[in-house]
Amino acid sequence: MGSSSTRSLPKVTICCIAVLLFLSCFSFTTTEAYDAVDPNGNITIKWDVISWTPDGYVAVVTLYNFQKHRPIRAPGWTLGWSWARKEVIWSMVGAQTTEQGDCSRYKGNIPHSCKKTPTVVDRLPGTPYNQQIANCCKGGVVAPNDVSSFQISVGAAGNTNRTVKLPVNFTLLAPGPGYTCGFAKLVKPTLFITPDGRRTTRALKAYDPLDPNGNITIKWDVISWTPDGYVAVVTLFNFQQYRHIQAPGWTLGWSWAKKEVIWSMVGAQTTEQGDCSRYKGNVPHCCKKTPTVVDLLPGTPYNQQIANCCKGGVINSFVQDPSNAASSFQVSVGAAGTTNKTVRVPRNFTLLAPGPGYTCGPAKIVKATKFFTQDGRRTTQAMMTWNVTCTYSQFLAQKTPSCCVSLSSFYNDTIVPCPTCTCGCQNTSHPGSCVDPNNAPHLASVVPANGKTTNLAPLVQCTSHMCPIRVHWHVKLNYKEYWRVKVTITNFNYRMNYSQWNLVVQHPNFDNLTQIFSFNYKSLTPYEAINDTAMLWGVKFYNDFLEQAGQYGNVQSELLFRKDKNTFTFDKGWAFPRRIYFNGDNCVMPPPDSYPYLPNASSRHGISAAILVGTLLSTIAFFFGCL
Ligand SMILES: *[C@@H]1O[C@H](CO)[C@@H](O)[C@H](O)[C@H]1NC(C)=O
Ligand SMILES: *[C@@H]1O[C@H](CO)[C@@H](O)[C@H](O)[C@H]1NC(C)=O
Ligand SMILES: *[C@@H]1O[C@H](CO)[C@@H](O)[C@H](O)[C@H]1NC(C)=O
Ligand SMILES: *[C@@H]1O[C@H](CO)[C@@H](O)[C@H](O)[C@H]1NC(C)=O
Ligand SMILES: *[C@@H]1O[C@H](CO)[C@@H](O)[C@H](O)[C@H]1NC(C)=O
Ligand SMILES: *[C@@H]1O[C@H](CO)[C@@H](O)[C@H](O)[C@H]1NC(C)=O
Ligand SMILES: *[C@@H]1O[C@H](CO)[C@@H](O)[C@H](O)[C@H]1NC(C)=O
Ligand SMILES: *[C@@H]1O[C@H](CO)[C@@H](O)[C@H](O)[C@H]1NC(C)=O
Ligand SMILES: *[C@@H]1O[C@H](CO)[C@@H](O)[C@H](O)[C@H]1NC(C)=O
Ligand SMILES: *[C@@H]1O[C@H](CO)[C@@H](O)[C@H](O)[C@H]1NC(C)=O
Ligand SMILES: *[C@@H]1O[C@H](CO)[C@@H](O)[C@H](O)[C@H]1NC(C)=O
Ligand SMILES: *[C@@H]1O[C@H](CO)[C@@H](O)[C@H](O)[C@H]1NC(C)=O
Repeated sequence: MGSSSTRSLPKVTICCIAVLLFLSCFSFTTTEAYDAVDPNGNITIKWDVISWTPDGYVAVVTLYNFQKHRPIRAPGWTLGWSWARKEVIWSMVGAQTTEQGDCSRYKGNIPHSCKKTPTVVDRLPGTPYNQQIANCCKGGVVAPNDVSSFQISVGAAGNTNRTVKLPVNFTLLAPGPGYTCGFAKLVKPTLFITPDGRRTTRALKAYDPLDPNGNITIKWDVISWTPDGYVAVVTLFNFQQYRHIQAPGWTLGWSWAKKEVIWSMVGAQTTEQGDCSRYKGNVPHCCKKTPTVVDLLPGTPYNQQIANCCKGGVINSFVQDPSNAASSFQVSVGAAGTTNKTVRVPRNFTLLAPGPGYTCGPAKIVKATKFFTQDGRRTTQAMMTWNVTCTYSQFLAQKTPSCCVSLSSFYNDTIVPCPTCTCGCQNTSHPGSCVDPNNAPHLASVVPANGKTTNLAPLVQCTSHMCPIRVHWHVKLNYKEYWRVKVTITNFNYRMNYSQWNLVVQHPNFDNLTQIFSFNYKSLTPYEAINDTAMLWGVKFYNDFLEQAGQYGNVQSELLFRKDKNTFTFDKGWAFPRRIYFNGDNCVMPPPDSYPYLPNASSRHGISAAILVGTLLSTIAFFFGCL
């Protein structure tokens, strides 16, 4: 498997965690000019190098249709270029080349394309989720002012911003001829703006600054050999502090290295059996080259369970509930190696948890796991163990915001609402797009009676922000030595109960949190020196269940902070949180200049915003500066 290293995309992301700090990404664009009623109309193609790999780089390529009237119609765009040297394309996500070309100089891992002048077309709608990226897979159709993207992993290329050679001779059929493309130019790195619009990063955030080591590790323990293969226990550990895997749970996929089959599984199942026609008599559970595995549901008969299985793929976060932070199943593999020298580890792991966002590295053979017997007096050992690590990136998940923050204070009557249209806009011409709670008959007809539904798209109450979740931060009281905040989380989604929800809050006074009422609390200190981030979650059987929208769809708590005379102030929005995550998703904050401010401080308005932004920027600078 050593040889698979250059080719596997996930490994790339792992490397990039180390390199990211140098922000070694850059972009170059090539633009064509079209004379028409739209003098500036053009299609701009941007390459964002998001990470370096041992032999090249991974880039996200985006076509912007900056033409006011001219859509790219079916059969869509075809993009071509010439490599400046002998580059190859190891893999693509969201698009493909039309020809592989001559890859005969490669053994083992064969590139996706070895052509000097590759020709790329978009994937079609309906491409599986794990083969998509945001804005891809529209069959090459791009409306005016719309975009189309794909990801490309380039090998045999430079892997620093000085050694990369830009491709030349770009051609674009959109569809058919008519476009000429200019030269690729190096431009300033693209700033990726977070959904809250207040923070920018320059490269793919393959990690979360509040949980930089968070990962999901998948461990395979071969526990016995069989005549034609082995039996393994596969365990997914969620080593993320606060991001858990919610219903409908995880979906794990991989590619077998040879012609392995799955004879049987306990505690999970593959979604498809595949073509087992070469087997007579005993038919395997799955013969697919790329099996897709899902957990079994709670209530599975006991004889089909193993420990830690059968939770519908739901895994809690490591901090919140370590005893439920793992999920296991057993797999019996045939047509496989039967010694630790002949077993070939599976490749190309994919994890939906649920939905995209995770990239998995290659499997690494590690020291065999030791198991302790129940009395703790004897250890047994796996025959062989390998690990796969998957990390989350909000960038890859490309979720629209699902949560927003509103603010109020005792010292000002203004309630600052969530920004309008944070998670969507109300569609007045299409009243069914959200639920008006006063319109009861309508409500009954759209909300499933028993909560059983396969449709997980949120069905939200009609609000100006349209978010499924709102977090309200109210500065409630001011004592001499202390001050008090009330936090309320409201669920506006009629289709979702959040069990074991959690909140991550960043505020400088968390270094002196004195008391918290009715929530659990743990301080998260991703950067040892600063103790300003806390994870909050509900008390079991009391308020750890955030019910769907309606009368009971909220939970609340109060926090008591001890004032530090040197830093404490109600001025300049200091008392409001810097950042909030709900279940790992960033909640959009109101713009800083709208924060409630102290009376008699009209002249401070501008200042407060400026200083607040200043604080945020220095926080960001720190994040980058110290990693
Ligand atoms: C290349 O990277 C270095 C530091 O990593 C940076 O200073 C330089 O501006 C980059 N060059 C370009 C063209 O992006
Ligand atoms: C392409 O269009 C965009 C958006 O209208 C514009 O900003 C850019 O300057 C145009 N590029 C060229 C080379 O005309
Ligand atoms: C680019 O196109 C020009 C003109 O067609 C050609 O002379 C040149 O060799 C091409 N460059 C590459 C690298 O293919
Ligand atoms: C995954 O997380 C665990 C626990 O935090 C950590 O020990 C391990 O080093 C992480 N793995 C990677 C590859 O980051
Ligand atoms: C791994 O994924 C790549 C690209 O998606 C694919 O071309 C390759 O065949 C896969 N490897 C195996 C062993 O299936
Ligand atoms: C394979 O098994 C042999 C003998 O049991 C052992 O010495 C060796 O370390 C094992 N190799 C691996 C990679 O586990
Ligand atoms: C493999 O994963 C297990 C479980 O997550 C962990 O305990 C072990 O340290 C990992 N080994 C390596 C070398 O990462
Ligand atoms: C409103 O809904 C209609 C019907 O579904 C749709 O055609 C229209 O594009 C929507 N408008 C907006 C602004 O979302
Ligand atoms: C949420 O939980 C309540 C109470 O347990 C239940 O009545 C309702 O059907 C559930 N709704 C969903 C969408 O699961
Ligand atoms: C952070 O501050 C809180 C409140 O004073 C304290 O309980 C916690 O132990 C501190 N954490 C660290 C890592 O210093
Ligand atoms: C908490 O506040 C007290 C009083 O202001 C101060 O002495 C102490 O150092 C603070 N603790 C931390 C961890 O900052
Ligand atoms: C309260 O804050 C708002 C800004 O959010 C401001 O417009 C208003 O004047 C303030 N009220 C008082 C009484 O100062």
